[in-house]
Amino acid sequence: MEDQKEKGEISRVAVTGAAGFIGSHTCEGLIKAGKTVIGIDNLSSGKLSNLKGIAEIKRFSFRQADICHKDVMQTTLNDFQPDAVIHLAALVSVPIAESNPEENYRINVLGTKSVAQASIKASAKRIVFASSAAVYGNSDQLPLSEASPTEPINHYGKAKLEAEDMLLSLQNQHRITSTCLRFFNVYGTRQDPSSPYSGVISIFADHCKTGRPVTVYGNGKQTRDFISIRDITRAIINSATNPALPGGSYNLCTGQGNTLLELLNILKEIHPDMPPPIFKEARGGDIKHSLGNPSKARKMLGFEIDTNFSEGITALQNHQ
Ligand SMILES: NC(=O)c1ccc[n+]([C@@H]2O[C@H](COP(=O)([O-])OP(=O)(O)OC[C@H]3O[C@@H](n4cnc5c(N)ncnc54)[C@H](O)[C@@H]3O)[C@@H](O)[C@H]2O)c1
Repeated sequence: MEDQKEKGEISRVAVTGAAGFIGSHTCEGLIKAGKTVIGIDNLSSGKLSNLKGIAEIKRFSFRQADICHKDVMQTTLNDFQPDAVIHLAALVSVPIAESNPEENYRINVLGTKSVAQASIKASAKRIVFASSAAVYGNSDQLPLSEASPTEPINHYGKAKLEAEDMLLSLQNQHRITSTCLRFFNVYGTRQDPSSPYSGVISIFADHCKTGRPVTVYGNGKQTRDFISIRDITRAIINSATNPALPGGSYNLCTGQGNTLLELLNILKEIHPDMPPPIFKEARGGDIKHSLGNPSKARKMLGFEIDTNFSEGITALQNHQ
């Protein structure tokens, strides 16, 4: 272990939020890449069953812990000695963060600080943070690049931005590289369709599978930059394990907008008998269009999109 550390190799990785949607795919990818992994999660929304594919593998261990408990985080990371920490645990629901801003701040800002400080004290070399397109707010100057103004319109987006600022300033004071990845709309297996706050794709896909009509708020022409979990996972793992990559903030998106009507058309091809959608009035606060520019991540992190939208949705449906 010491030899590898001296060579700058990243072989031991801690993942917070490991039992969630993105966390479980990340742990699987790291194990596949030969890394030794500890997953940390308080199981507030994540499920151990998400990790069943790797639970028996010796290089994987799991610790049920809350990221806000500083002492527990410190002991966990001191014991494990990670080369890199991937921080995905969060309060992810925008409506819950709006109704309980203190809890949002406690988990998404102070929890991130607890993870960062424990990582630094445990001598981790890299920290990768799950940020969000929510840091940009409701800009109509699309596509959004990292140079676009960051004007979050909700508590969740504000907390992600504050956490990014903190991590990037820690990078200047300590020997750690901070990479903040701004995810756009991620979709894939294990996204919980039973949550009303889940991504639209998992909710639509689940309705189609069970023959229930989907509800579309507005005319369905709103666009989102949907990105497959496969592409997101590859980028997270590369950012954490390639010691040559620089820190900073990066969009993880496709640069392509798809409407909800296009999504419905793809689902209709897969499920010809699906009932027609129910259209309801647009919800206040929903943004009309979201589109990112992935050029910086492409240039600096070597990020490439492998999965096109139609293939990604078809693969998701075939899997379920
Ligand atoms: N899914 C997306 O489209 C998307 C978009 C932008 C950003 N993100 C960010 O990506 C990250 C992962 O999101 P996800 O979609 O996998 O969500 P998820 O809810 O599936 O996973 C989050 C995990 O964090 C755990 N967790 C929550 N609070 C915790 C705490 N205090 N201590 C320890 N564990 C805790 C939960 O139990 C859960 O397993 C989050 O930071 C989220 O904000 C996701």
